[in-house]
Amino acid sequence: IPTLTHAAKLLSWYDRHHRELPWRVSPSAAKAGKRADPYHVWLSEVMLQQTTVQAVKPYFAKFLERWPKVTDLAAAPSEDVMAAWAGLGYYARARNLKKCSEAVANDYRGIFPDTEEGLRALPGIGDYTSAAVAAIAFNRPSAVMDGNVERVISRLYAIDAPLPGSKPEMKARVRELTPTDRPGDFAQAMMDLGATICTPKRPACALCPFRDDCLALAEHEPERFPVKAAK
Ligand code: ADE
Repeated sequence: IPTLTHAAKLLSWYDRHHRELPWRVSPSAAKAGKRADPYHVWLSEVMLQQTTVQAVKPYFAKFLERWPKVTDLAAAPSEDVMAAWAGLGYYARARNLKKCSEAVANDYRGIFPDTEEGLRALPGIGDYTSAAVAAIAFNRPSAVMDGNVERVISRLYAIDAPLPGSKPEMKARVRELTPTDRPGDFAQAMMDLGATICTPKRPACALCPFRDDCLALAEHEPERFPVKAAK
């Protein structure tokens, strides 16, 4: 009997258990070809770095109300953007947000590049954000890895090598798991799984789509992963 691939198991779980988020297109709409707005995806991903989903939601709504298009954000005074960011923390993110919006407005006529490489060339966009926007907004098979994904991958393969040195190995695993069909949903599903099931403490392994595959669970110690270098 052919067994489902990891990606097929995860996507089937995501179809049933995805979180509804303001910047997200539902899996059924995504399957019908609907794509999230790249500006919305980029803005949410920058805000979500080091800030929780619940804390981001009101800021995301406020920014879109005030600056509905990336060209509006580019034209806004920096002081206004910094003031609207107040409370989210890590102000370098807000400065990079502004710089990136200006590059898209001035050098790309307000249209985000639609490849990981094109996005990576924008000021203030790093490896994570370029991969996330390429996958989620443009359905490119980019390997998207954040802290949630590192936890899922390190457990699935019981990776004993410590972070951060193990990142390239983990990224290679994400790359080989990422399907060409629905890569954007796959990336979001990995993040949802890490946030809701494969949690740092007391993960809900009985509900996990990878429960029959997870090497950390087979060793009865999912919480041991990811291993971190001694401080
Ligand atoms: N955390 C950061 N980006 C996310 C996304 N696109 N979906 C779920 N959680 C996230």
